[in-house]
Parts: sequence; C-alpha cells; structure tokens
Amino acid sequence: MHTQVGIIGAGPAGLLLGHLLHLKGIDSVILESRSREYVIDRVRAGVLEQFTADLMTEMGVGARLQREGMRHDGVFLSFAGRRHYVPLAELTGGKAIYVYGQNEVVKDLIEARVATGRPLHFEVEDVSVYDIDSTSPRVRYAANGKQEELTCDFIAGCDGFHGICRPTIEKAARFYDKTYPFGWLGILAEAAPSSEALVYTYHECGFSLFSMRSPKITRLYFQVPPDEDINQWPDEAIWDEMLKRMTTHDGWKPNVGAILNKGVTAMRSFVTEPMSAGRLYLAGDAAHIVPPTGAKGLNLAAFDVLHLGRAIAAFYSSGKTDLLDQYSDTALKRVWRAQRFSWWMTQTLHRFPDENPFDYKRQLTDLDYIVSSRAALTSLAENYVGLPVDAAL
Ligand code: APR
Ligand code: PHB
Repeated sequence: MHTQVGIIGAGPAGLLLGHLLHLKGIDSVILESRSREYVIDRVRAGVLEQFTADLMTEMGVGARLQREGMRHDGVFLSFAGRRHYVPLAELTGGKAIYVYGQNEVVKDLIEARVATGRPLHFEVEDVSVYDIDSTSPRVRYAANGKQEELTCDFIAGCDGFHGICRPTIEKAARFYDKTYPFGWLGILAEAAPSSEALVYTYHECGFSLFSMRSPKITRLYFQVPPDEDINQWPDEAIWDEMLKRMTTHDGWKPNVGAILNKGVTAMRSFVTEPMSAGRLYLAGDAAHIVPPTGAKGLNLAAFDVLHLGRAIAAFYSSGKTDLLDQYSDTALKRVWRAQRFSWWMTQTLHRFPDENPFDYKRQLTDLDYIVSSRAALTSLAENYVGLPVDAAL
C-alpha cells in the first residue's frame, strides 16, 4: 500500500493534519492504536485560542464549535480572597478564547475524516517506522491480526508523548525537560458553572482552577503532589478542598454537584529539537509537552500541523522543500514562546514544596503587580490568547 503522508496518531494533531491535507487534495492514512470510543471519551483540556478556533472554522470543521463552544472575553486571577478580571479581548484588539473540550474537537474531526472517505484505522498494533532517511519511508503495523506495510512520501509523527515516533529520532535529537513537584487533580462535575469566566486561583494551600465544559458541567482542578493516588480522595474531600481554595471573600464559589470523572495528571515541560529527521516530522505532544496552566497544548499542536500541512502542500505543488526544511525552526519558535508562558503561569500560581515564606510573599506581590499594571496585564493577555500568527491556509 502507498500513501502520500502516513500519519501516526488520531489525536488533534493527526486528525487536523489529515483534514488540512485533504483540503489540498493530498492523500493520507491515519493509524491510531486506541479505539474510536476511547479517543472520543478521553477527558482532556478544553481551551482553544482564537487562532485555533478560526482555523477549525476555515477548515469547515467548526460548525459545532461555533454553536456549542463558549466564547470567553476574559479570565479571572484570584488571590488573597479576591478575583481580578483580566479583560483579554479588550487588551488584545478583540481576541478571545473558546472553551470547547478537546474530546469534542476530536469527535468533530473524526466525523469530518470519515465523511471524506479517506482511511482512518483504529486499534492498529505494533506500529513502527523505517527508512526515514530515504524518499520512501515506511510504516509497519498490524491490523486485525494481519501485518501491513505502508510506503509513504512523508511520515507525520502525531502519536503524542508516549508514541513511537520520537524514540525513532532519539539519536539525532536533543531534549529539554522539566518536571514539576506537583500535579493536578481534575474533576468533571454535574453543576452549572457559577462564573462566566475561568478562575485561576493562587491560594496558600496551592493552585486551583475553575473551568467548565457546558452550561451544565463544571471542570475543576487543584494542585496535589505529582504521584497522588486519586483513590485517596473521596468526593466529599475533593469538594472540601475545592471550596477551601476557591471561595473568595465576597462569597463566590463553585456550585457543587455529582462528580462524573476524576483523575490526577502530572505536570511537565518538554521540547524535542529538531522536530524532524529525514522524512519524519513530529507534531503536537509527540514533540513537546507544556504544563496545562497556560492552556497551550492543543493550540501548539494546531500551529505545528498548519505549518506542516502548508510545507507538504508546497512540496507537491512546486517540488521545493524549503518550507519542509524550515518546519522545525518555525514550529519551535512558537513552542518556546508557549513553553516560557506556560512555565511562567505555573511558577506564578503554584506553591512549591521547597519554597519559604519569602517566596510566598513574592508570588503574591507578583500577582498584585500584574493586576495593577496595564502593561503586565497586556503581556499576560497577549500570551494567553495566543501570540499573533499568520494563519492563512
Ligand atoms: N501508534 C498509533 N497511535 C498512537 C501510538 C502508536 N504507537 N502511540 C500513541 N498513539 C495515539 C494516541 O492513542 C493518541 O490518540 O496518538 C494520539 C496522540 O494524540 P494526543 O496525545 O492527543 O496528542 P496530539 O494529537 O499531539 O494533541 C495534543 O493533546 O495531550 C494533549 O494537551 C495536549 O491538547 C494537547 C493535545
Ligand atoms: C480546562 O478547562 O480543562 C482547562 C482550562 C484552562 C487550563 C487548563 C485546563 O489552563
């Protein structure tokens, strides 16, 4: 079997790339190790930058996002018992963020892919890549107990942080890594959101975040040790901790409801350089991880594949490889900006186990400075909504 682009992984990166290529008349095969249900039901983050929302709309896969996504023109920073509104749109010339679950994005993209009739194979096993330094790299995998081989012009490694593509280029790459001494305990609750905007809270007991998924579902997180066992947290204890950290002096607090889903996620910053080797191109979490505090993961994946899709299309239309050659540098520039911002949000809003009372006061002062300086607020806002990007397809 032959395809122009072999795409490994059907997360947001792989599915968006497949659709971008489809729109340019380029064929691809998407191989995913999990089942369709698993990929759709997996609870992940849910903030789209303006650029990502616009991209989905331009690609013709934004109809449900337009209907059900929740546009937010600002967020709250909360500390010392008070919430402070950050007017994102006002500070950035009208840019907003959209709250729309990543699993909804994936669901829409799978439907769009299926409608194109182009191949998307779930539950494939033993995926491996070969001959990436040649002009016809290959992917081997097993499907329904049968060995298959796919020859490609290019391979896109969109297989997430635990995939097989990054290890394939390990020898030629350099890795930058930072782990944090905490994770997030996250829940989905059957409760109407009590605030229209997200609330990022710095509390003496640690970070917490108020978010949402729909007018009926609230999404909440708080900082815990990185290896925290979720089974140590009965629902009542989770609510006690959420309310302790989030309730402000004016009485604002999240609405309480049945917990529909709970889990703990570790936090990490990670970058692979370069993001390509031969004809294998990494995109999304396969190449980089950010801590979720800046809400950048999905948006970086979208930026990567927009550029990768353009570069591949330019190759087929002109025979030139210059955009492909520049892909890694172009993507990494934005990746490092997002890394810096995500690290900064993380270290500003969390309590670290080795900090002392000086650090606590310094962080509070940092936050107090941000909300009282238009310059500092603007810097936060322009990073949070996403730095400018030439987003034309
Ligand atoms: N073969 C095929 N598919 C694989 C393999 C493999 N060996 N290993 C992993 N996969 C699949 C995973 O099951 C997953 O569906 O690759 C997909 C990768 O998807 P994501 O992890 O969602 O990564 P990505 O598409 O880069 O999206 C980035 O995901 O983790 C979040 O916050 C992050 O929002 C960001 C987004
Ligand atoms: C979420 O809604 O899941 C969410 C929102 C903002 C973040 C991270 C996660 O920074």
